[in-house]
Amino acid sequence: MMDVRLIAAVGRRGQIGLAGRLPWHEPEDLAWFRAQTLGHVVVMGWRTARIVGNLANRIVVPWLGEDDPAKFLARTAHRFPGRVIWIAGGAKTYRAFMPHVRRAVITLVDYDGPADVWMPPLWEGAR
Ligand SMILES: NC(=O)c1ccc[n+]([C@@H]2O[C@H](COP(=O)([O-])OP(=O)(O)OC[C@H]3O[C@@H](n4cnc5c(N)ncnc54)[C@H](OP(=O)(O)O)[C@@H]3O)[C@@H](O)[C@H]2O)c1
Repeated sequence: MMDVRLIAAVGRRGQIGLAGRLPWHEPEDLAWFRAQTLGHVVVMGWRTARIVGNLANRIVVPWLGEDDPAKFLARTAHRFPGRVIWIAGGAKTYRAFMPHVRRAVITLVDYDGPADVWMPPLWEGAR
């Protein structure tokens, strides 16, 4: 049984990204992200993975956008049995994997500034 979870930090109007990065500086949320994902698999889209790079004590598996999400997940779960598969963004990646997500961990950031990437609705296409 795959344990697929989504983790995101979202501004008050749904903002998640600005100029390829997070729109805010929130060390506390980065520590939360680290605590949640330690020892597990972290799936990131191409754009996010390029900036974030490797994460200590996590298995980062970039999603290149070409693989079918269901097949990608089945393969990843087979390679890393017993680990949670965390879907860690960005927007395109959240949207693609949403139908397979069973749990979502969202930080609501008290941020009202600009963004160029937005959180897709969690319930669209979800089981
Ligand atoms: N707040 C949060 O919790 C959080 C979490 C993660 C990321 N983010 C932010 O979200 C933003 C990134 O999200 P995103 O939806 O733009 O991207 P993404 O989901 O990280 O990556 C997918 C994007 O990569 C592009 N891509 C894939 N392969 C490529 C290649 N070979 N060459 C060039 N482009 C390629 C795709 O472009 P096409 O669509 O054109 O194919 C697609 O838009 C960043 O600002 C990041 O900081 C926020």
